[in-house]
Amino acid sequence: MSAVLMDGKEVSKKMRVDIRADVDAFKAETGITPGLAVVIIGDDPASRVYVNNKKKRAGHCHMYSREYALPEETTQEELVKLIDELNHDDEIHGILVQHPMPKHIDESIIFRSISPAKDVDAFHPENVGRIMNGNFDFLPCTPAGVMALLDEYGIDPKGKECVIVGRSNIVGKPQAMLLLHRHGTVTICHSRTKNLPEVTKRADILVVAIGKAKFITADMVKDGAVVIDVGVNPDSEGGLCGDVDFAEIEKKASFITPVPGGVGPMTITMLMKNTLTAAKRFAGK
Ligand code: GUN
Repeated sequence: MSAVLMDGKEVSKKMRVDIRADVDAFKAETGITPGLAVVIIGDDPASRVYVNNKKKRAGHCHMYSREYALPEETTQEELVKLIDELNHDDEIHGILVQHPMPKHIDESIIFRSISPAKDVDAFHPENVGRIMNGNFDFLPCTPAGVMALLDEYGIDPKGKECVIVGRSNIVGKPQAMLLLHRHGTVTICHSRTKNLPEVTKRADILVVAIGKAKFITADMVKDGAVVIDVGVNPDSEGGLCGDVDFAEIEKKASFITPVPGGVGPMTITMLMKNTLTAAKRFAGK
């Protein structure tokens, strides 16, 4: 058996066609172009690639984007001041500060300084709380991208054993909430989990987001499982690989996401959706 490939690139392309049509209709009705500000501090090459992709996709969706590329030495106060200006800038409806930030900057303070109404990453505590409650406007981008992929391939988490490996604020925790809202039975594993293979082997749906190349091996996966790989790591041949051993697991999973081209493009598509939502709320819609 060989797994069905969950093609995030293709699904994203399809979703972007709908988002672009929505943006065009919104512009025609209100005269407002949804605007996204992307802030990058320092010169991390991976972050640079992500930021370039976000700007490019905003353009494809007929949105406006503005980049702020700040030097590594930028102080927390300077960054908060910029965010405050963007919070009051009517051309900007979504603000994204690329993570990770330099060590001298407290990310939690930065994420809290973004107006919850412009927080298209859904990292502000108010939006995090709303995700917990299930009444959110902004989708947590990566977890929502995973849910959209599951939906596209007809995989309903209801009643299923959903195991998440990784407990980050960006992926693991909000992913658990979204799967729970959809009636999955959710387990979150992390570095201190005992007998990890025993837990991952229970999964009907396995979501892996720990940032360790090929950490999940075929013996840790049940036959016929759906395997979602959120990891993006450099591999030994100068390319990229995920957190799961794709070549081996692909032989026993029912569905699997590739890296690249699986979850990554979906994350950016969800960001576009959130930016349009922010602009709609700004226009009173
Ligand atoms: N770095 C990696 N993923 C993300 C994301 O979704 N948002 C932000 N701001 N930074 C990231």
